[in-house]
Amino acid sequence: MDEHSQQSDVVKAPPEPLVAIQLLNATRILVINSKGGAGKTTIATNLASWLSRRGERTVLLDADPQGSSHYWVSHREQALPSVHGVKIDNNSRTTRSFQWRAPKSTRWLITDAPPGMNGPALDDLLQDHDLIVVPVLASDIDIRASARFIGELLLTQSMRRKRRPIAVVANRVKQHTKAWERLQKFLLSLNIPYPATLRDTQNYVRAYAEGRGVADYPQQSHERDRDDWQTLLCWLDAQGSGDQWLQREEPNKSVAYAG
Ligand SMILES: Nc1ncnc2c1ncn2[C@@H]1O[C@H](COP(=O)(O)OP(=O)(O)O)[C@@H](O)[C@H]1O
Ligand SMILES: [Mg+2]
Repeated sequence: MDEHSQQSDVVKAPPEPLVAIQLLNATRILVINSKGGAGKTTIATNLASWLSRRGERTVLLDADPQGSSHYWVSHREQALPSVHGVKIDNNSRTTRSFQWRAPKSTRWLITDAPPGMNGPALDDLLQDHDLIVVPVLASDIDIRASARFIGELLLTQSMRRKRRPIAVVANRVKQHTKAWERLQKFLLSLNIPYPATLRDTQNYVRAYAEGRGVADYPQQSHERDRDDWQTLLCWLDAQGSGDQWLQREEPNKSVAYAG
């Protein structure tokens, strides 16, 4: 071992123990839509950036084999509030969330879900999260696909056993279009809140490439986009203010709830 590596061994803090995500004393947020391109990664990375600014341990778990969230974490400047990235191994696509681990001190766990989730794998994912955020694009094709997906979500065993709060984020909205009006009607009909409406802007595209969220740009050019997140952040706080982890289902005890 050379002198340099000996020195770095001395200054390095010991790695924090990883624990199963079911055992975290954290609010676990699942960003999911079965459709690709709805904005899961954009919303997961921006949420991570907002929550890390509070100085609370924020973990972004990339469950999509495409690895887009993990790429974002790896491009995040060290000077910015840190987001801890956890990547689910590409080779273990079948790995179920009960095997996932994150640092023990995690306060916020944000999972960027893969597209096309359904059946038992979807049920599993829902069981291991407290809050569900569904991005929906304001186009007819996406509204139809998302309506079906939300219907499927609500019918899973996990949701029927314990209804987790769901919020929809209306993404890439161009105000005053027919598609936007239809999206509003659709959300009202489901009685599901939509606490954020994000506009279609290159600010999100640039932020992703720079490992940032819109929260990381103090400039006035991003003020409107920063404002768009405030109601969703309030919604998260309002849902997470209870002792939700004390009321959690015990991991792998689904049989106990079958009746
Ligand atoms: N509000 C937005 N404004 C502009 N571009 C967006 C917005 N949201 C997402 N995008 C872009 O749309 C594409 C798909 O978004 P992404 O977050 O990767 O979706 P998903 O993870 O659901 O597949 C990306 O190129 C992303 O930069
Ligand atoms: Mg993605």
